[in-house]
Amino acid sequence: MSEMIDIIVDSQSYKVQNGSLLIDLLIKEKIKVPYFCYHESLGADGNCRMCMVEIEGQKRPQIACDTFIKPGMIIRSKGENIEKVRTDILELELINHPVDCPICDQAGECSLQEFYMEYGLHDSKISISEKVKHSKHLDLGSNVMLDQERCVLCARCTRFTDKITYTHELGIIGRGDEAKVTTMPGRKLDNPYAMNVVDLCPVGALTSKDFRFAQRVWFLQTVDSICHGCAKGCNIYIDHNKIKYQDDVIYRFRPRRNDNVNGFFICDAGRLSYKQLQENRLESAILNGEKITQMQAIAKAKELLAKHKENITVVIDANLYTEEIEAILAFAKELNAKVCSPKEVYRDESFKDDMLRSSNRAANYKTIERLNIDTKEPDSSSLILNFNHPQDFEATSVINFLTHNRLSLGLSLPIAAYSENEGTLTNEDGFTQKCEKAIFKNVPIPTIIEHLIRLRR
Ligand code: SF4
Ligand code: SF4
Ligand code: FES
Repeated sequence: MSEMIDIIVDSQSYKVQNGSLLIDLLIKEKIKVPYFCYHESLGADGNCRMCMVEIEGQKRPQIACDTFIKPGMIIRSKGENIEKVRTDILELELINHPVDCPICDQAGECSLQEFYMEYGLHDSKISISEKVKHSKHLDLGSNVMLDQERCVLCARCTRFTDKITYTHELGIIGRGDEAKVTTMPGRKLDNPYAMNVVDLCPVGALTSKDFRFAQRVWFLQTVDSICHGCAKGCNIYIDHNKIKYQDDVIYRFRPRRNDNVNGFFICDAGRLSYKQLQENRLESAILNGEKITQMQAIAKAKELLAKHKENITVVIDANLYTEEIEAILAFAKELNAKVCSPKEVYRDESFKDDMLRSSNRAANYKTIERLNIDTKEPDSSSLILNFNHPQDFEATSVINFLTHNRLSLGLSLPIAAYSENEGTLTNEDGFTQKCEKAIFKNVPIPTIIEHLIRLRR
């Protein structure tokens, strides 16, 4: 590791590693500098020229994304000179940019919009009719739409397919006004991580077909959560919105940076898993196909527990929160019941890859292992209590606690999904991570822990 040295930025001294990138220091210290093409996962490309700073001793401004820190450097990130340079570069970036903000999905989280407000605010020297026109909705594949007019040619998307997925579907063709992003001839954007280019794009050129025109971003509320798509435990944001009188709805999952787990990215399957989470929910208790009230369901469950008390098996889904699994174990102990969590159903070798996706499709499997829960199929029992395990089990009687509707005999009680509850999960590498509660339903569905309290009364 290289030595730590002192440099000065805007009259303040910083200790930093000799030879490290100046832009990383500016980002870390939240020193405002505009940039499009640099991204910590992709490195420097030096094409947008927005990240200019003044370095004492250098005649001209330099780009921070390609400047390596040396001892004694004195940097200025603000001031009339450097701000004029940024305004001029921004004007160039905007020459052919369409006036789309009112209908653009990126509005509200667009770097170009923010920089224009901060460094631009200039009147355009050319009229709207003189702007060079390109295609406005190109379906690139994998749920990604491209508006070539909005593109600032930062090459983040093309570098993602070159350096991260190594699938090389995207490139920039043409020169000057005619330069544009496109797919390679005869190819579509097609890899399991393709939708990350939407997050990488600093403007509204790449949008998600799934999210386009669904919501204005300023109406969304965001919580921190963990994807339940596999045992990797990628960190996500859940963006949701509750429109007056209607139910709270999730509109998208986005990757949340965690260098120990998923870096900057998530897979498309995990990103889109919010749909299954909301669809086909079990919302009322059911007895042999007929709807019953929650109170009737709890009474029936108590009756079955009393009737079969000699031979009960409790089955646990390995996607439940640790707090729920521990509460179920305590309840099972009081019932003197056997406990298991059959594991084969979670194994999916076709899902695994070398990047993030794991063949183990259970988000909290590590906790099942840590608590020494039997992972074999249950023996014959006269009563099975199934806490959302994906398999159906045969027994004289079955009580299911389920998030989603499925054809199951016996008694089924609805339970809150992970987005409607908070708790922790331990991923396959042993990191214990917390999920916040995102969704507040008009008629809340009880959590497993609430059901257990009622069953004990
Ligand atoms: S589409 Fe977006 S990410 Fe790709 S080059 Fe254009 S602005 Fe950059
Ligand atoms: S790799 Fe697994 S945890 Fe990560 S986003 Fe995909 S499904 Fe979710
Ligand atoms: S971020 Fe430095 S040139 Fe684009």
